[in-house]
Amino acid sequence: MKLEPGRKTKERLEFQAEYAAALRDYAMGGGEAVLGRAYELGRRAIAERKSLLELASIHHQTLKELFQNSPDRRSQTHLVNASSDFLSECVSPYEMAQRGFQDAVKALRQLNETLEEEIKRIAYSVHDEAGQLLVAVHLALANVAQELPQAQRPQIAQIEDLLNEVEKHLRRYSHELRPTILDDLGWIPAIRFLAEGISKRANLPIHIETKLSGRLPGTVETTLYRVVQEALTNAVKHARAKSIWIRAWLKDNLLHCSIRDDGTGFDPQAVQASGNRKGLGLVAMRERLSAIGGTLWIESSQRRGTEILIRLPMEDNHVNQSSAR
Ligand SMILES: Nc1ncnc2c1ncn2[C@@H]1O[C@H](COP(=O)(O)OP(=O)(O)OP(=O)(O)O)[C@@H](O)[C@H]1O
Ligand SMILES: [Mg+2]
Repeated sequence: MKLEPGRKTKERLEFQAEYAAALRDYAMGGGEAVLGRAYELGRRAIAERKSLLELASIHHQTLKELFQNSPDRRSQTHLVNASSDFLSECVSPYEMAQRGFQDAVKALRQLNETLEEEIKRIAYSVHDEAGQLLVAVHLALANVAQELPQAQRPQIAQIEDLLNEVEKHLRRYSHELRPTILDDLGWIPAIRFLAEGISKRANLPIHIETKLSGRLPGTVETTLYRVVQEALTNAVKHARAKSIWIRAWLKDNLLHCSIRDDGTGFDPQAVQASGNRKGLGLVAMRERLSAIGGTLWIESSQRRGTEILIRLPMEDNHVNQSSAR
């Protein structure tokens, strides 16, 4: 919702006036009933998207004014003590919201883990079961070939060549779906493998620049892989790009990863506005990252293509400090 000029200031002044009235009533012995008003003010501050800093500033300003108007030292001391309880009560909805957020992040992480297990299962069954079926088809074809006159055998050979292609593609897709390299060697080698496959299929150069090495916790590596995978898929599917660049580096204990294309670009705000949203990719990228404490930034314009920037706070020892840019 867009606020007209001055509306925000009016809202803040109204809030501050109510805050001052409630705090004054509480300091004058209002008791539990007024503390209930403090709690409601906290809830309202959240609904009005006031930050904790803003709330602290309103509290400070109100307290200063009430303090200056207090008649004597005794009432000033009383006011300061009461204001501390009042502020705690007012801030408690923020604490509850924070706890709710932590629970949601935990649930999201579990959901991603379940999803990842499911992907693993599908990748293995594509690889193993489809592979076995193809072996059976090869054997059946060999039997048919024996029955056929010599002149028709080249046709069987052609079918076998096509089957070999199908098998190659299925193997490639199942590996990309859940690359064993991801578990064995880590996210950077897995992304190199993925980029190589996409680059060949889409006939599009994908440049990878990074000096990062070392391993990260499993969920972090899987998340980074999935996010880069979606960014690459989007660049191929929507951007009509001529090139893609992937860079990863470490700076100020933050892991940065950028996926940039030189394609058509788009308006990130417009496609993500509720009502306009069609796909799930960008939402899933953000949610996956937020479950591990990371953030996603999209920069896109018609002339310069699109850059997806991932930032992830690193705990010490997660990555070798061979940062690059
Ligand atoms: N690199 C890009 N270049 C141009 N447009 C893009 C790019 N990435 C995303 N978009 C635009 O943003 C939209 C939303 O992307 P998102 O990944 O959320 O959904 P999708 O790719 O359409 O579908 P899904 O990911 O669910 O298969 C796309 O439909 C496309 O219009
Ligand atoms: Mg997508």
